[in-house]
This record gives sequence, C-alpha cells and structure tokens, in this order.
Amino acid sequence: MPEDGQALPPFKPGQFLTFTLGIPVPGGQQKIIRCYSLSDAPRPDYYRISVKRVPAPPGSDLPPGRSSSFLHNQVAVGDVLSVRAPSGHFHIDRSDAPLVLIGGGIGITPMLSMLNWCLNEQPGREVWLFYGVRNGRELVMQSQLATLAEKHPNFQLRFCLSDPLPVDLAEENFQINGRVDVPLLRMQLPLKPYHYYICGPTPMMESLVPALAEWGVPDSHIHFEAFGPASIKRQSAAAVAAPVDEATASGSEIIVSFAKSGKQIAWRQAAGSLLEFAEANGIMVDSGCRAGGCGTCQTRINLGEVAYRQAPDFDPEAGTCLLCVCTPKTSVTLEA
Ligand SMILES: Cc1cc2nc3c(=O)[nH]c(=O)nc-3n(C[C@H](O)[C@H](O)[C@H](O)COP(=O)(O)OP(=O)(O)OC[C@H]3O[C@@H](n4cnc5c(N)ncnc54)[C@H](O)[C@@H]3O)c2cc1C
Ligand code: FES
Repeated sequence: MPEDGQALPPFKPGQFLTFTLGIPVPGGQQKIIRCYSLSDAPRPDYYRISVKRVPAPPGSDLPPGRSSSFLHNQVAVGDVLSVRAPSGHFHIDRSDAPLVLIGGGIGITPMLSMLNWCLNEQPGREVWLFYGVRNGRELVMQSQLATLAEKHPNFQLRFCLSDPLPVDLAEENFQINGRVDVPLLRMQLPLKPYHYYICGPTPMMESLVPALAEWGVPDSHIHFEAFGPASIKRQSAAAVAAPVDEATASGSEIIVSFAKSGKQIAWRQAAGSLLEFAEANGIMVDSGCRAGGCGTCQTRINLGEVAYRQAPDFDPEAGTCLLCVCTPKTSVTLEA
C-alpha cells in the first residue's frame, strides 16, 4: 500500500515492480535489486506480488535465495519497502483478440494479473489459461482459478501436471497429464488468431516460443517474459541478431574500459554479457532482472558500440546500454 496514502501509479496487466531491498547481513545491510510481477488486476489502493521461496540448489552449501527468503521470513505488515514504479513491455491491452495465457511454475504471476483484469474489464473476451507445474502441490490459487472458470463461460482453464502425485490422480483435480507444448495446444484450441502470452522456466520458454513460430503463429502474436536470463530465439531474430564483431573477425582484440573503475580489460566472448564480464572483474554494477527488462543496469557508453542478441524489452536511453544483455561490438568505454 502507498505509504503516503495517495493513489498508486497505474500499471498494465503483466508489468512488474523493481524492489531495492536492504537485506540484513552481519555488520550491516546488503542492497539487492529484484523484480516481481504484479499478480492482480490494477487497482489504486494496493499492489500485489506473489513470491516463490527459492531454496538453495539441492546438495549445495549455498545460501537460499536472498530476496525471496527475506520477503518470506522477515518482511512484516507495516514495513516500508522501496519500490520503483511498474514497468515492462510484457502486458496485454484492451482488444478483441482471443488470448492464450501460458504460465509455468511461478511464471503464473503475470498471467493472474492479465486474467483478473480481463475477466473484470472484458468479460466477453475469450481467454484460455494453461498452467503448467509438476504436481498439484505446486499449483497456487487453484480453487480461486477453478471458481473463476465456473463463473466465466469465456474462460477456459487447464491445469497441466507433468508429474502428478498419486493424490492428484486420485482426486482428478487437473485436466492435462503432461507438459504445455504445441501438440497439446493444437489438440485443445480451435483454429483462431490467438495472441499467446507466455512466462515460465527457461527450458519451457526456449522450447515453446520457437515451436509456436514453427506451428505458424506470427511473431507479433507471441509475447513472452523470462524471470531470468534465457536465450529465446524468435523467427525474426536474424533482424536483430548481433552483427559479427568486425574487430574479432579481423583478429584484433576488443578492449573494454571501465571509466569510473579505471580498468581496461581484454574482452572474452566466453564472459557472457558485459554485466557478467564486469562482475567477474570486480566491477559492481546494479542489476535487477538480468534479462533486459528493468533498466537497472543501464550504463552510459562513452566510446564504442555494443550489440544485442535480441532487442531488449526495456528501451535504453540514447548513449547508454543494458549491460546484462549486450556484448561489445568494438572496443568500448563504459561509465562504470
Ligand atoms: C521481470 C521479472 C519478474 C519476476 N516475477 C517474479 C514473481 O512474480 N514471483 C517470483 O517469485 N519471482 C519473480 N521473479 C524472480 C525474482 O526476481 C528473483 O529472481 C527470485 O525471487 C530469486 O531471487 P532471490 O534473491 O531469492 O535469489 P538469489 O539470492 O538471487 O539466489 C538464486 C539462486 O541462486 C542460489 N545461489 C546463491 N548464491 C549463489 C552462488 N554464489 N552461486 C550460485 N548460486 C547461488 C540460491 O541458493 C538460489 O537457488 C521475477 C523476475 C523477473 C526478471
Ligand atoms: S538488470 Fe534489468 S535490464 Fe539489465
């Protein structure tokens, strides 16, 4: 809820908030930035997010997810959090186009916002929701979604369990025993010019998005967001793919200069993104989504050019770049 009691900035269903959190650590606080999708229809008095507790990878000594653990374990009603206004290009708009929403795991959150908005604002619009998880224990808002499907004849709900538990099979509380993939969509959906909105784990996105394009769904009807780095290839990717580095092609070295840190380092393609390269060399840059969506890592380019593998969701200001999703095209000097 807004601390000052004023109306909150509106948002489009599917957008997210960027939080700057002060995580307690021995001797002080660690500042971390994380993005969370708004998970309910827009309203002026409060925002809702829904956060999955992220455990440490199985068998590792690593700590569990910092932000999600902090929000689950420490943040209490009445605490004040620092939040940037809603942003993101992954959203639906008012139109007659029939919709297919596909949420995998915690990727259901933007779909909940889209669905709730649509059923309130455009109850005549056809909406399908395919919600993919491993088993019934992982479903959130299961009964609320089922109630909505009973109430709204234009809303078709499909819970898709890839590995149902015996209790799921006994209770038959789901519709599909399997993953959300194109063969399933072909079987379920009538032939119509649907717009597809997809958010889910990286493997699901990396297979589903190209498969939809191969099935013949136009790029302009495929909308997606990943909650982390994912390399999703669009059919039109060639149009925005990074051109071959001239310097690399001619065998000369690309030098990345970090003006504020006073470091000059030879670029290695294996470094990943410029953000990862900076971090690996001890240069700390604020980051949030690490996927080109929030603008937190926007950094001024003093000299040189960078390239993006695919057009980022967030439009960087002229003369800047999003370090998390770009690589140097020539030697560059960055204000970092
Ligand atoms: C646009 C967008 C929207 C999002 N919306 C949602 C949402 O609606 N709901 C939601 O729950 N999440 C959402 N996310 C994901 C969210 O932003 C966080 O990434 C997520 O909560 C994990 O953050 P964390 O700080 O808890 O984990 P982190 O501290 O970042 O850790 C992540 C994982 O890495 C492991 N780890 C810790 N240290 C290391 C190390 N040194 N080396 C390797 N691994 C390590 C941790 O154990 C954990 O498994 C969204 C992300 C984006 C980009
Ligand atoms: S960290 Fe979000 S755009 Fe780079």
